[in-house]
Amino acid sequence: MKALITAGGRGTRLRPLTFTTNKHLVPIANKPMIFYAIEKVRDAGITDIGIIINDGDNELPPAIGDGSRWNAKITYIPQVGGALGLAHAVGAARDFIGEESFLFYLGDNIILADLSPFIERFHSENLSALLAFSKVKDPHRFGVPEFDGDRLVRVIEKPQIPPSDFAVTGIYIYNSDVFQAVDSIKPSARGELEISDAHTWLLENDRPVGWEPITGWWKDTGKPEDLLDCNQFVLDRLGFAETDKNASIPASAIIKGRVSIGKNSRIGDNVYIQGPAVIGDNASIENAYIGAYTSIGSNTVIKGTNIQNSIVFDGANINTDSVISDSLIGYNARITSAKDTLPKGHRLFVGDNSFIEL
Ligand code: G1P
Repeated sequence: MKALITAGGRGTRLRPLTFTTNKHLVPIANKPMIFYAIEKVRDAGITDIGIIINDGDNELPPAIGDGSRWNAKITYIPQVGGALGLAHAVGAARDFIGEESFLFYLGDNIILADLSPFIERFHSENLSALLAFSKVKDPHRFGVPEFDGDRLVRVIEKPQIPPSDFAVTGIYIYNSDVFQAVDSIKPSARGELEISDAHTWLLENDRPVGWEPITGWWKDTGKPEDLLDCNQFVLDRLGFAETDKNASIPASAIIKGRVSIGKNSRIGDNVYIQGPAVIGDNASIENAYIGAYTSIGSNTVIKGTNIQNSIVFDGANINTDSVISDSLIGYNARITSAKDTLPKGHRLFVGDNSFIEL
């Protein structure tokens, strides 16, 4: 079986971060989000992986590589014509997939479940498609299944009045019938070929479509708060604290819970780190409190600050006596204290679509 992972799209809800970084490379616990998808696929025994990228993307292939770090082979498939929907992305992979069945995995979904039983069921029941559903509070944000009694009859993309409280998650298995479905459907009102319409086509054309409730945690990382939830989820599952032997940590530092500190990072005076937390390589931290559920990237400077439940990307420099909470701080961002500057006030150099709470 092959796998197809999506890594294109525009990531509009995560702007301004996604003006400069592909959403799939946003770090979750200091690891690019898409690595979790690749690991899940690999854990299910699949080594032949296609990744759908925006046409002309020259950021993702070097960041992910050829797959050898996972003992897998990765083929990059550009979605020529633009981000015209998930069904369009499936169509773009037709040559790569050939006649095989395949796992289709949205690269911005993070799950806990093991996919192997899902794959076994698909084969043993000889299905055309197997979908994974998750009960959610806000189904109108997703593809939503509609049932007639117990029978799944259609899937509606982002319905205003959801017919059930399930979301169709971004983990699907298909045989090659899906290509007939994507060729037969028409663009939706938002101009996209919707994967939900392909599912409805399969159902209405009497193809065997199964569904499973997804076991355990599932998250689509569409919004900034979803990234923080994911970061919490992953940090909660960090095995044990790994502190690199080249990190320098004075005896006076208070480090509680599971905390991982990377190579050549320097912990200075008056530092309290409450895990779970990760700190990358070459970070410099002094006179600071790093609270639970915080990921601090590499080459960062954190001084004088209290920060908790946040993601700080590589290269950021934070030197302020303010308390920072529930925040995403992008690559090389600088946050300093206003107290010594004149005229008094906050001096802001803020990119488009930024969000600041003063
Ligand atoms: C996409 C699909 C939707 C699905 C969701 C799962 O939505 O169109 O059917 O429920 O992924 O993550 P998007 O996140 O692209 O808006």
